[in-house]
Amino acid sequence: VSSRRKFFVGGNWKLNGDKKSLGELISTLNGGKINDQTEVVCGAPSIYLDFARQKLDAKYAVSAQNCYKVAKGAFTGEISPAMIKDVGVTWVILGHSERRHVFGESDELIGQKVAHALEEGIGVIACIGEKLDEREAGITEKVVFEQTKAIANNVKDWSKVVLAYEPVWAIGTGKTATPQQAQEVHEKLRAWLKTNVSEDVAKSTRIIYGGSVTGGTCKELASQGDIDGFLVGGASLKAEFIDIINAKN
Ligand SMILES: *[C@@H]1O[C@H](CO)[C@@H](O)[C@H](O)[C@H]1NC(C)=O
Repeated sequence: VSSRRKFFVGGNWKLNGDKKSLGELISTLNGGKINDQTEVVCGAPSIYLDFARQKLDAKYAVSAQNCYKVAKGAFTGEISPAMIKDVGVTWVILGHSERRHVFGESDELIGQKVAHALEEGIGVIACIGEKLDEREAGITEKVVFEQTKAIANNVKDWSKVVLAYEPVWAIGTGKTATPQQAQEVHEKLRAWLKTNVSEDVAKSTRIIYGGSVTGGTCKELASQGDIDGFLVGGASLKAEFIDIINAKN
């Protein structure tokens, strides 16, 4: 892994926790010894963003799990990057497979959200990934390239973007892509960036892996040349998250 790419570990708490359990998790994280060469971001449910930011040590950044494509207005139930920034939160996860496949978000909407979040100065963890039937049909590359293109078309400054490859069949299923399967796609994504954006962006953009990453699987995944970190689901709600943060030690 190039030293130009700081290892990046995001936790995605999804729709889990309450003040009590998240407060306990935060205490555990605050007491954890973490590698200062790793950038760590905790993705809290929107109602707990302010709480998480106030309680977490400064060594942890906080991320929203979604946001809308405009700053304010008649959009009941939505939150904006302006609001996210207002509570001291600096990242947003966009295009997560659950947003795409449970809530029907299109490439177009995700692209608009990416553009707006970046204009507002928020970092974006942009997620892509193929479904099981797509992998089995041999169209993984086509699917992730299309999703990446819809994101890339909306990015001017790549320094605030982390690309998260999350094969849908490995999310919350306990199935992890093998380090070789993950590396293969990451390598292709970097080549995509090199040809379709620039060599510099390909070299400097973190491409992180998500999909049932655990304390047990993280080290071998982290040793792959094009895996620059993780987006962690279930394990980010446990003390195990600290082991994953330190996968590069
Ligand atoms: C560049 O982008 C196009 C469109 O997504 C894709 O077909 C092509 O394979 C990309 N180049 C590389 C080297 O990945």
